[in-house]
Amino acid sequence: MLSIRGERVVLAKDVTRVGVVGFGLMGSGIAHVVARVGIDVTVVEPTEDLLARGRERLDASTGRAVERGRELDRVVGPDAVFASNTSSIPIATLASATSRPDRVVGLHFFNPPPAMDLIEVTPSLMTSADTVSFARRFGERLGKTTVLAKDEAGFIVNRLLIPYLCAAIRLLDEGLATREDIDMSIALGLNHPMGPLRLADLIGLDTVLQIADVLFDEFREPAYAPPPRLRRMVAAGRLGRKSGAGFYDYG
Ligand code: CAA
Repeated sequence: MLSIRGERVVLAKDVTRVGVVGFGLMGSGIAHVVARVGIDVTVVEPTEDLLARGRERLDASTGRAVERGRELDRVVGPDAVFASNTSSIPIATLASATSRPDRVVGLHFFNPPPAMDLIEVTPSLMTSADTVSFARRFGERLGKTTVLAKDEAGFIVNRLLIPYLCAAIRLLDEGLATREDIDMSIALGLNHPMGPLRLADLIGLDTVLQIADVLFDEFREPAYAPPPRLRRMVAAGRLGRKSGAGFYDYG
């Protein structure tokens, strides 16, 4: 949610206050990124159970997000832009729950937001050109580089990333190599900062699973189908770094 002044002219430099709904892994990082360029941030933390919900409730999260969007629409001024960090909920779904679909846009950050330089800007079919331009300038003001992608599940990065992470989990399951050797191969062989299993642990296995499910649902391609091991690990509460254990243990 980005507050802007003026009905028609959208100026990212005029943003004085940003609201972040949800103070989890990404919300706290995004609040950090916004605050460090001197913009006031108001954080809204939903109920505790949101953090602990499992797969079933994640499925329901689109509906809840839409409900929250309705609430926000009432309490936030008509000149505000709503920006969602979602990587899976269609922006069009969020937009259609508001009275300002032209002012709803995706602004997808990467984990950890303070360290990652990219933001994907994802307009829906209803987002105005002014709002897109505002979102790109606002991203630049945060010190990030923006790219533009259509409102389709996964945008650019997750369309490429999720099949890769799922493939790495399948290789581990097949016994092709150890988790350490799979990660080392990518880190040293391709010069990535970390291998796929460590990266999945960083993102959160519940998040990887949710995005894979959404991608599979949207495109019906086997490459997006989450491997059974991923679903079982999430069911067991092994969510990666945030829960203390995933493919690796984090003490
Ligand atoms: N919060 C804030 N800043 C952090 C941080 C965190 N959690 N982790 C690292 N940083 C900062 C450090 O402060 C440091 O900044 P300075 O250079 O200004 O001092 C910088 O990042 C480098 O950190 P380190 O030297 O401690 O560690 P590193 O060199 O091993 O880098 C890393 C850590 C940036 C996480 C790096 O390992 C990396 O880039 N990993 C890949 C991360 C990635 O691919 N993220 C995308 C995930 S996909 C996603 O998020 C989208 C989705 O929808 C799933």
